[in-house]
Amino acid sequence: MSNIKNIAVFTSGGDAPGMNAAIRAVVRAGLYYNLNMFGIGRGYDGMVHNDIFPMDAKSVANIIQRGGTILKTARSEEFRTTAGRKQAYDNLRARGIDALVAIGGDGTFTGAAKFIEEFDIPVIGLPGTIDNDLAGTDFTIGYDTAINTVIEAVDKIRDTAESHDRVFVVEVMGRDSGLIALRSGISVGAECVLIPEIKVDYEAMMARLDRTRKNKASRIIIVAEGDDAGGGFAVAERVKARFPHYDLRVSILGHIQRGGSPTCMDRVLASRLGVAAVEGLLNGRKGEMAGLIHGQVEFTPFSKAIKHISNINENLIRIVDILSI
Ligand code: F6P
Repeated sequence: MSNIKNIAVFTSGGDAPGMNAAIRAVVRAGLYYNLNMFGIGRGYDGMVHNDIFPMDAKSVANIIQRGGTILKTARSEEFRTTAGRKQAYDNLRARGIDALVAIGGDGTFTGAAKFIEEFDIPVIGLPGTIDNDLAGTDFTIGYDTAINTVIEAVDKIRDTAESHDRVFVVEVMGRDSGLIALRSGISVGAECVLIPEIKVDYEAMMARLDRTRKNKASRIIIVAEGDDAGGGFAVAERVKARFPHYDLRVSILGHIQRGGSPTCMDRVLASRLGVAAVEGLLNGRKGEMAGLIHGQVEFTPFSKAIKHISNINENLIRIVDILSI
């Protein structure tokens, strides 16, 4: 039998489509188990500044389909300080909050781990980031929507690229991770995909661009923003230096990748994990992230979840190589 009576949920770090579906699931699951539910505005910053309020079934009505986060999100400098975390804890205690659900990425879980270490408050994390760069879940909430946004945009770019016989360099998000670039690259039939996890082989890339010219009027190079090549414009410069006759354009997709209505996959993922977070807390779990591995809910300690996935699936790289001839 759990002593937990009052749970607060918050979102932190970069927003991701499906965060609202996760908030809804956490609040409704808590109410289902007769708990009192609270929201915290602007992540850790709201915790420090006492932006804490009760939530009921109605406060999460009609949000499952909405992008962004109704709780808002922020990066908090004050929460990084001991005094800030103490203030946050005092604010939570004043409301009788005895457990938290943190929705975010590695920064969110690093903060949560520190908070648990200092104040021993139960926290369960939900993976909310478009980057899909957390261990302990096959997919993060927001990733599927983001890659679908990318393919919708690049399909349109392909139309115009094909009409003009152009080469396009398209930069996608992923400061430390090439998972958006790789999966969307396969989906749009990109000729080259450059990701931070793999050192760019410019010779191979130029050779492929030259070779594929025979078969295709347009060529698309997908570059993850965090790639060591230095982003879309830097890659375009190198290509232009080698092939001055190419008609070349650059497109930086930017923050459109973070917005929009979540896909079915993200809504279901968020709903499953939201319920799992509340049930996990009631079962005495803390300091873990709820994720989905091979279709099953699994809990992974924050310390393991925040280790970026550096092992890119080699098979996906191979698919790009085989199919881009
Ligand atoms: O972590 C998600 C992410 O979208 C990264 O892919 C990107 O590099 C970063 O956030 C951008 O952050 P900001 O919105 O603060 O510029």
